[in-house]
Amino acid sequence: MSEVRYRVEVMHGVNLDQLGRRDPLLYGTLTLPELEHQIEEDARPLALETGFFQTNHEGAFVEHLHSLRGQADAILLNPGSWTHYAWAIRDALEIAALPALEIHLSDVENREPWRRFSVIRELCFATISGRGPDGYRDALRQLREELDRSERR
Ligand code: DQA
Repeated sequence: MSEVRYRVEVMHGVNLDQLGRRDPLLYGTLTLPELEHQIEEDARPLALETGFFQTNHEGAFVEHLHSLRGQADAILLNPGSWTHYAWAIRDALEIAALPALEIHLSDVENREPWRRFSVIRELCFATISGRGPDGYRDALRQLREELDRSERR
């Protein structure tokens, strides 16, 4: 693996601060701080530095995306239910213009039909869903590979 270090911003949207209180069959039992701790630990051996952001306010999520250019090399994002309808988040992700991976704890493809649609999918190089917290580990690996690929381009 190359020695280049990259900065990954991990963004969680609406209601994801409530992990640990939400349905454990869908979302697991980790709280958000516990999940973030796991992500930080998994990122270290991949030489990825992690930053974390969560909000329940769509405008704050949008403004955080605006602030990332020059501050992060890639984005790992789980916008919660905003995924399915918040076009302003899609546009802000386009403005951020960074490699992005969409992640969901639950299997959004096999729940209510409205969860199948994602406003951000076309802007993300990959999507992971339904793998719970373990999905984040794979997401970090895929982000690292994508960053190495873009370095070579
Ligand atoms: C979620 C899936 C969304 O449909 C839902 O609204 C969430 C969490 C997930 O991680 O599984 O809040 O993004």
